[in-house]
Amino acid sequence: MANIKFFTGMDIPLELHKVRMVQKLNLVPVERRLEAITEAGNNTFLLKNKDIFLDMLTDSGVNAMSDRQTAAMLVCDDSYAGSATFTRLEDKVHEIFGTNFFLPAHQGRACENILAVAFVKPGDVVPMNFHFTTTKAHITRQGGTVAELVTDEGIKTTSDDPFKGNIDLDKLRRFIAETGTERIPFMRIEAGTNLIGGQPLSLQNMHDACEICREHGIITVLDASLLQDNLYFIKTREAACRDMSIREITRRVADEFDIIYFSARKFGFARGGGIAMRDRRFFEHMRELVPMFEGFLTYGGMSVREMEAITVGLDETMDEDVISQGPIFIEFMARELQKRGVPIVTPAGGLGCHLNAREFLPHIDDHEYPAGALAAAVYLAGGVRGMERGTLSEQREPDGTEPIADVELLRLALPRRVFTMSQVLYAVDRITWLHENADLVGGLRWVEEPSSLRFFFGRLEATSDWQQKLVKKFREDFGESL
Ligand SMILES: Cc1ncc(COP(=O)(O)O)c(C=O)c1O
Repeated sequence: MANIKFFTGMDIPLELHKVRMVQKLNLVPVERRLEAITEAGNNTFLLKNKDIFLDMLTDSGVNAMSDRQTAAMLVCDDSYAGSATFTRLEDKVHEIFGTNFFLPAHQGRACENILAVAFVKPGDVVPMNFHFTTTKAHITRQGGTVAELVTDEGIKTTSDDPFKGNIDLDKLRRFIAETGTERIPFMRIEAGTNLIGGQPLSLQNMHDACEICREHGIITVLDASLLQDNLYFIKTREAACRDMSIREITRRVADEFDIIYFSARKFGFARGGGIAMRDRRFFEHMRELVPMFEGFLTYGGMSVREMEAITVGLDETMDEDVISQGPIFIEFMARELQKRGVPIVTPAGGLGCHLNAREFLPHIDDHEYPAGALAAAVYLAGGVRGMERGTLSEQREPDGTEPIADVELLRLALPRRVFTMSQVLYAVDRITWLHENADLVGGLRWVEEPSSLRFFFGRLEATSDWQQKLVKKFREDFGESL
């Protein structure tokens, strides 16, 4: 990676790209922000872009694309079957993963649907380091359940463990012995983990977990959607990999797994997805589901333009200077918040900076959704949109009880190469103000609660007039400022 020191000793992230296309942003007054979050049912997914200043909801499909990606989108081969664009994508996937077969899909959850339909039957249990919302929903839809076997360190919000996403190998061995291999359709490893702060796994841990599965004849599946950050963390945090290139690390990771799927909204800096594998049997087992759910085998629901962009994006993902941009900006934001006493998840991981809502708002009961309340409050404070990653993102048990999430986080995603340092510092400033006024923030309660994936379109209301009080305090402290 480029090694650049500042003479003055400044420790700040340095962009290794220049911006050549921009989009104008609006910061609406705090009174409008109150109307907007109320109209959105206190669900940041339901806010409209016109009311948002910094959109830190996700990095999914909103990373900045490179000049080479944009150029590639203009030269594509559009056909229903046999497109050369698809062949270019397929070849690139095989080049970086060393696989032989590739099934395209329109995004990550479409791959999860295919995997769940193909492999999961009622009564099955899928072991994994940690679940992701759509993964779990697809598995439970087929009558299966998930078993989360992340190390105990993984759900501690503050830690100095560099690989908090690791699966606990003893838990995995015990789980296999107690469950029996016939009820385990596959093991899934998510590298890195979305819901517990973008925390990575080590290459060694992936190897050890896959070795255990191989001994028992259990299929191993890698969710590579967040792999780009995880590759960077393996390179910079795992001593044995320090001298390996990103390409070498990618191959070593891929060689461990039978099946690899990814959301190209993240891995590949574009929009799409796919499933790669070496073994023809898996390919033939899943193949017919692609035309059924996605589209023909040479596009799988993706446009040719997006496929060209993914091909270039995957190539650029092998460049450490490109993939380091996310983690170094996230670490900068985390450090600036920490300096100001704001509780965050440590160590900083990938994807975004994660605020620890339980510590930020200790007076709010878990059943009044601290992370959801914090998401609404951060929007009010600065027009910054984050995503609740806590109890609201869980689904109720079949008997209606509500599982309380292990961690209550507000994720502030940093889509790669999108925000400048002053925008990050603006977000830090408004969050610091909010932290100093945290006692004004109250809870949320349901108004409309959908039965599955409720966080996407459910609506909530404040449990008191705390939002009006927060707006009043903003005006007292900031005067006429937006
Ligand atoms: C780890 C992980 N897996 C799967 C998905 C689903 O991908 P998509 O949003 O493309 O459906 C995501 C999306 O955020 C993810 O982070």
